[in-house]
Order: sequence, then C-alpha cells, then structure tokens
Amino acid sequence: MMRRSVLGSPWGIGMRLDRKSTFITGGTSGIGLATAAAFLREGAHVAVTGRDNARLQSVVERLGARCKGFVADAGDDAAMAEALAAAAGTLGGLDALFVNAGHYVSATLGTTSRADVEAQMKVVANMFMAVQSALPHLREGASVVLMGSVYAIMGPPGAGGYAASKAACRALARSMASELAPRSIRVNVVVPGAVDTPGWPHHQMEANERDRQKRAIGERALINRMVTDTEVANAVLFLASDESSGLNASEIVIDGGTTGALAGSPRYLRGEP
Ligand SMILES: NC(=O)c1ccc[n+]([C@@H]2O[C@H](COP(=O)([O-])OP(=O)(O)OC[C@H]3O[C@@H](n4cnc5c(N)ncnc54)[C@H](OP(=O)(O)O)[C@@H]3O)[C@@H](O)[C@H]2O)c1
Repeated sequence: MMRRSVLGSPWGIGMRLDRKSTFITGGTSGIGLATAAAFLREGAHVAVTGRDNARLQSVVERLGARCKGFVADAGDDAAMAEALAAAAGTLGGLDALFVNAGHYVSATLGTTSRADVEAQMKVVANMFMAVQSALPHLREGASVVLMGSVYAIMGPPGAGGYAASKAACRALARSMASELAPRSIRVNVVVPGAVDTPGWPHHQMEANERDRQKRAIGERALINRMVTDTEVANAVLFLASDESSGLNASEIVIDGGTTGALAGSPRYLRGEP
C-alpha cells in the first residue's frame, strides 16, 4: 500500500482538491478552461459544461480521464439539472461548483435594445438557477464560487447591462451564503479585472489594436499588465478548496491592483486617463 505523506498525497505534493468532485459551467474556454486545468492538477474530478458538443469533447479529451463534459446551455434549466445530476451521480455528490458561464453584451445608452439588456441580465438568472439545481447534490461543506467582475464597481461606459449583472452577482452570493450556511455550504465571488480570453470584448480586434488595448488596460494596474486566466483560476482554486474555509459571502479581486490603487498605476502616474 502506498504511504500518504503529511502533505496529503502519496507523492508528497499537496493535492489541494484531492478526490473532490467539482462542476464548472462554461469550461470549454478562457477562465473556465483554465480553472478546470487547475482543479485537475490538484487532484479533483471535474465536470465541465459548454453548448457545443464538438468543442466540449475536444476539451475533455485534452484534459484527461478525470474530466467529464456535459452539453448544457446555462439558460436551459432541464439540461443543467440533468448535467448536474449526471455529474453528481458519477462523482458521488459535488464538493465545489464554479458558476462561470457568461458573456459580454455591450450596452450604450441610446443604442441598446431591450433584448440586449435582457440577454445580459439572463446571466444572473442562469447563475441563480444553476445553484438551485445543484442544491440536491452539494455536499455539506461544499464551496460555491460565482463569477463576478470589477465592472460591477467601475462604472464602465457602454457596459451598463454587463456591469449591472455583475453587481447583481455580488448581492446574489450574499443571500445564497446566508441561505446555505445551515448546510455549511459557502458562497463566494471571484472578481477579475480584464483577462485576455476569447470572451474579452477586445479579443476579436485586429492584432495591433488588440495589443494596444492590452497595453493600455495593463497600464491601469500596478502590475503593469492584464491578469491571466490562470491567475484567476488560482483564486477560484483557493475558494473551492478547504484552505478558504474562513471566507463566506466574500469576494476575491484579481485585477493587479486596478480598483485598489489606480492612483499608483503607470498610466495614472503619467497623467493619462
Ligand atoms: N475575460 C474577462 O476579461 C472577464 C473579466 C471578468 C469576468 N469575466 C467573466 O468570466 C466568465 C468567463 O468568461 P471568459 O472571458 O473566460 O470567456 P470565454 O473564453 O468566452 O469563455 C466562456 C465560457 O462560457 C461558456 N458559455 C458561455 N455562455 C454559455 C451558456 N449560455 N451556457 C453554457 N456555457 C456557456 C462558453 O462555452 P461554449 O461557447 O462552448 O458554450 C465558454 O466555455 C464570464 O462570466 C465573464 O463575464 C471575464
């Protein structure tokens, strides 16, 4: 029999989610995909969702045997309930749920349709329903992480719907944390700044303009660059693990210091907006 070390794994490496069962909505790209990789690295079994079967299968194949994929649109309650039940059945309950799936819709006053605003706010409804559908499967002591954004507090022009949906996410997490405390289930929010993923609004721009935007956004952070999907994933990993047992109804901001100390950023110090 293999001996376990004091660090928790037979190899002497601390496996921070050793044999935990986890579920990530929107795990085929960007932050969700990076988080799936981080969870797997730390010993978890991971279920990921996405809307496109071919994309999902190729991601699952790359991530390996401890990863299972489920086709489920976050707005389809029946599909989500089925995916959660199937994942929990395979994994024997859920220890962590990362409600990550979402999208950005630009919404400038004067040019935005009701449909665009509602499409953005639907992301919050999807979050609510994902957690509700997961309730029968979440184990005592489980961790729920919701995907927020610094836009909730930055007042970004042209992004009112998105910003409002992320502000709603903060309130949602707090109410859910209160409701789930009797089951010792924690609910926290991860709050990234701009991350260069396929979902980042500037990602589709022509390469030169995109690089210019990356530099300009990065210079608003003390770290003088944008944060990476892996840096966000590491925060989610912490929130999903028992290491964060003291955090509840709380938020971790990963923006390189943009919202905390804008006045120290390279761009601000040069006197630029
Ligand atoms: N990138 C940033 O700067 C940034 C900053 C703060 C917060 N966020 C938030 O982070 C989350 C992930 O964004 P990302 O930047 O990683 O974008 P991304 O690379 O476009 O990834 C989005 C993921 O969500 C999935 N998805 C989107 N809508 C879905 C739906 N209705 N049902 C199921 N899956 C869905 C996509 O899968 P399929 O397309 O395969 O279905 C994909 O796996 C979003 O909630 C976003 O608001 C991003």
